[in-house]
Amino acid sequence: MDNINNNETNRQYEYIDKLKEKVAELSESKGRQLTYNVTTFGCQMNARDSEKLRGILEQVGYVSTEDENADFCLYNTCTVRENANNKVYGRLGVLYSYKKRNPDMIIALCGCMMQEEVVINKIKESYNFVDLIFGTHNIFKFAELLYNTLISHGQIIDIWEDTDKIVEKLPTSRKYSFKSGINIMFGCNNFCSYCIVPYVRGRERSRQPDEIIDEITSLVADGVKEIMLLGQNVNSYGKGLNEDINFAKLLRRIEGIDGLKRIRFMTSHPKDLSDELIDVMASSSKICNHLHLPLQSGSTDILAKMNRHYTKEDYLALVDRIRAKVPDIALTTDIIVGFPGESEEDFLETMDVVKKVSFDSAFTFIYSKRTGTPAAAMDNQVPEDVIKDRFDRLLTVVQDIGRKQYDKLVGSTHSVLVENVNEKDSTLMSGRLTNNAIVHFPGDKSLIGDIVNVTLNECKGFYYIGTINE
Ligand code: 5AD
Ligand code: SF4
Repeated sequence: MDNINNNETNRQYEYIDKLKEKVAELSESKGRQLTYNVTTFGCQMNARDSEKLRGILEQVGYVSTEDENADFCLYNTCTVRENANNKVYGRLGVLYSYKKRNPDMIIALCGCMMQEEVVINKIKESYNFVDLIFGTHNIFKFAELLYNTLISHGQIIDIWEDTDKIVEKLPTSRKYSFKSGINIMFGCNNFCSYCIVPYVRGRERSRQPDEIIDEITSLVADGVKEIMLLGQNVNSYGKGLNEDINFAKLLRRIEGIDGLKRIRFMTSHPKDLSDELIDVMASSSKICNHLHLPLQSGSTDILAKMNRHYTKEDYLALVDRIRAKVPDIALTTDIIVGFPGESEEDFLETMDVVKKVSFDSAFTFIYSKRTGTPAAAMDNQVPEDVIKDRFDRLLTVVQDIGRKQYDKLVGSTHSVLVENVNEKDSTLMSGRLTNNAIVHFPGDKSLIGDIVNVTLNECKGFYYIGTINE
């Protein structure tokens, strides 16, 4: 497939060079380095996109600051639920107050929310102090867009409806030295009826396996031990490529990369999770002992209305097949409460699946109506008080079960990737088991990035307290 665009990569590097000169000139006139701040809303895809944006900012001479009152301030937005949008509008007001004091400040917005026409119209009308707006499909053009913003006045808006382009080999700046996300595919073709993602992230397209392997190989050479393969639906990886490849085969190839210690991936759609993938997970020594498998609802009727293409029984049977081959795997999920037409019986079906599966943890969401999705036009929207009551009941059960799952491991010893100094107690280090649970244990920061054995002494709900085994 010819969706890799080397010319575009070269073009963007030309803009990176021009930006370097421009940023140097601006720094000189200010007598200090220019600062940047990037805030990421939403999912791991956005987090990875932000690393790419930071990579360019750092390469052209901006320095990172925690303070949003910076020379360049960017919000990488999410729109999966309505409250994500409201947060952005609220915070833009604060940015405006900074810009009034520093008129050279550049305020930029990108990400999923910008792919919505209503949002763009609102920003044009009420937030004309925003300098640069771009979307999810042309993020690779950031160097060019930033350059144009620096040499011009007025708002620049560049939003594409979709793209089949994948632009490789642009700079990135990783948040962690020892772990990294890797996009393996972009977009989504599933059109779950509540979800806005297919409208804002466009059609599904997979990266070439060789590009993925090359990227991981160079990350490993740079000290990365754990990778997270990212896609809205990783189980459909490879469709549309001219190669005999699917997600299970890609994982087999990645397993062979020397020096790589841990492989994670998300998100898996239950309808596409193959037995071949279960076999790869069972036989792998690097794939982590964790699977995030969004349920959304336990009611077959609601699942049909959600356009999920599986039934309650299909989901339970899939979990059985996974547990038969990977018995101690940690399962986590996403659940939406209050989808239009959800009755008490439907909700009890969800509760039933939660109890039968015993998830280690679950992200529970209140259904949010997203304009333009089929569900937004459905009758029988569930009243708020009913949703709130169900949400609270679900959360109690999810937490009770999660606690019991976590308790099971107390007393055992596990390999842990040390991630950071504990935020509340600097004598403790925090790390992750392969099942994604967090453990805090006495240690010092020289351990960051190491994989060590830790005994779990105590379970504190959704984390452990442990001791390192020398
Ligand atoms: N309302 C509530 N939750 C949603 N999600 C996606 N769209 C919506 C919506 N409209 C949840 C799903 C998905 C997760 C990333 O966000 O559970 O798996
Ligand atoms: Fe949204 Fe469904 Fe695609 Fe996930 S699979 S991004 S929930 S449409």
